[in-house]
Amino acid sequence: MGHGIAFEFAKFGHEVTLFDISQNKLKLAKDKIEKLISNKSGYDSYREITFMKNLKESILGAEIVIEAINENYDAKVDLYSKIEKFLDNKSLIISNTSSLLPSKLSKNLQRPERFFVTHYFNPPYNIPLVEIVPTLETDLRNIDKIKKLYFEMNKNPVVLKKEINGFIANRLQAAIQRESINLVEQEIATPQDIDNIVKNTFGRRLSVAGPFEIWEQIGWDLVEKILLEILPNLSNKKSPSKLIKEKVLQKKLGFSTNEGFYKWDTKKKEKLVDAISKNLILLRDFNSNE
Ligand SMILES: NC(=O)c1ccc[n+]([C@@H]2O[C@H](COP(=O)([O-])OP(=O)(O)OC[C@H]3O[C@@H](n4cnc5c(N)ncnc54)[C@H](O)[C@@H]3O)[C@@H](O)[C@H]2O)c1
Repeated sequence: MGHGIAFEFAKFGHEVTLFDISQNKLKLAKDKIEKLISNKSGYDSYREITFMKNLKESILGAEIVIEAINENYDAKVDLYSKIEKFLDNKSLIISNTSSLLPSKLSKNLQRPERFFVTHYFNPPYNIPLVEIVPTLETDLRNIDKIKKLYFEMNKNPVVLKKEINGFIANRLQAAIQRESINLVEQEIATPQDIDNIVKNTFGRRLSVAGPFEIWEQIGWDLVEKILLEILPNLSNKKSPSKLIKEKVLQKKLGFSTNEGFYKWDTKKKEKLVDAISKNLILLRDFNSNE
């Protein structure tokens, strides 16, 4: 995610330094950005990015630091304490966490008012929306500042009224995930069937109409009747299901191990990534033309 966020700021002319503890990951990030430019996906110019392995040098004088390291509470908190030592008092520290509570992340900061979450979606340069999650201690003037910046970058920021684990989009995705696995476990459908159904039914509407808009179109009287039938049988599991735990134990993690519920090879993976990317570009241009 880090290279994508860096690229997006650079695309809008901002001075960006990308910091990573791994030289190999910095090289990978550079390669990915160069590939984006050479693919001619509408990104023909961007301000040169500096790649660095030295934290202090990379953040000296920075107005904004966006952290996108591994989803690990202790690692993130530890990094913030190092960042605070070198950063100007007014500069912002922002996390791109997908699920951790912002107030837990900012707990040890000397200046928690400068901290909040901006939750990007992958790839950041093709998905306009960013969820912004302040804590009770965040100075709301900092939220206004980032919103203004995002509007200038054609992004669509949504500020949550209060924090909650997983924010909005990942909670909704978790609900779909839980029921999808439940249906596979009950042998009502295969993963392939579920992907096919979602892609070719409500998935098609969702990029142009939100769930509330769709429910309003259906009518709440019918929605109520449908829910009365379905809700008693929906999964309400409070932890990841056995099927997911088995996949993790068997190291069938998906793309990274070439097998999950599907088998993957490089060609198949590239085909899916390309299809998603092409559709996102179409939608990006469609939305920005509205
Ligand atoms: N992948 C996604 O689709 C996605 C979407 C939204 C948010 N996020 C969030 O973004 C963050 C990063 O996710 P990712 O998928 O890009 O992970 P990733 O594992 O691909 O990248 C993490 C990078 O952080 C580096 N790193 C680890 N510790 C570090 C440290 N102390 N200092 C500097 N660099 C360090 C690693 O070398 C690695 O390059 C996570 O919090 C994740 O939840 C991910």
